[in-house]
Amino acid sequence: MDSILAGTMADAMVRVTELTAIAASKEVGRGDEKKADQAAVDAMRTAFNAIDFQGRVVIGEGERDEAPMLYIGEEVGTGKGPEIDIALDPLEGTTLTAKAMANALAVLAIAPRGGLLYAPDTYMDKLAIGPGYPDGVVDLHATPAENVAELAKAKDVDISQITACVLDRTRHADIIESLRSAGVRIKLITDGDVAGVIATTDPSTGVDIYMGQGGAPEGVLAAAALKCVGGQMQGQLVFRNDEERARAARTGITDFDRTYKLNELASGETVFCASGVTDGDLLGGVKITGGIVQTETLVMTSADGMVRRVVSRRPV
Ligand code: FBP
Repeated sequence: MDSILAGTMADAMVRVTELTAIAASKEVGRGDEKKADQAAVDAMRTAFNAIDFQGRVVIGEGERDEAPMLYIGEEVGTGKGPEIDIALDPLEGTTLTAKAMANALAVLAIAPRGGLLYAPDTYMDKLAIGPGYPDGVVDLHATPAENVAELAKAKDVDISQITACVLDRTRHADIIESLRSAGVRIKLITDGDVAGVIATTDPSTGVDIYMGQGGAPEGVLAAAALKCVGGQMQGQLVFRNDEERARAARTGITDFDRTYKLNELASGETVFCASGVTDGDLLGGVKITGGIVQTETLVMTSADGMVRRVVSRRPV
């Protein structure tokens, strides 16, 4: 395996999400979502700019006129080194951070130029399962009950043994009702569907399937992670108005009804990195004791299918 992305770049990106998580952790429980997000954005941008690469933000904090930093199209890095596209969410779980709740993360994914879908900041209908199932066993356009029935058959278990992860939102009332009628367990999450999708790839979480509508940027980030460990994912952009359609058009989307498969959401080689801000199912959060700050990071590389957990300790 001879991949700059999976080697030097992955190591550099671990440091980026670590430093971002540390900055965001200072705002945990302070009730100010914007300030927490800003702290994460500032730290992530500073960390990127210390790396020798020609980074371009393709999924970021918003469009140039609405995001002063890490906007879509922003160039980061020293300008020397490989040309890399970046999808980022410096603080996945702004509310979780402000309220000192579990599962807030600093997240990013990288790929060579053009390797990630340039998704607009709209919603996306998502469906994801972990590795080891026949291709196409679930389908975004089937009903939730049909999908869990097919999954149970493929897993050779009773449907009552299937657990679905769903964002706890009123827009998901029909999905939740359909799953409950089918007899499925539902793990409802208040926020953070990147971790929700990744949970399907880790048998220790008990989550078999993720479904529902969340952010499209988070959809691409989750796809970049699944690309490294296997699994299936489908996503379809959801537009609430013409402004959102115009947003999509500006990112180069022409077919507004397209259903994207995993390899279309993340077509290139990917590296995915997430560091815990608060303790969560996926990762431990930032901890400071005796002048030492500890971070926990999940780093996945598609070139070799490797998953690593990096625990770092550095002086405060
Ligand atoms: P933020 O960190 O931007 O608040 O996003 C958290 C999140 O829960 C995402 O994981 C998810 O994709 C999205 O919000 C869902 O959006 P909404 O809260 O509007 O339902």
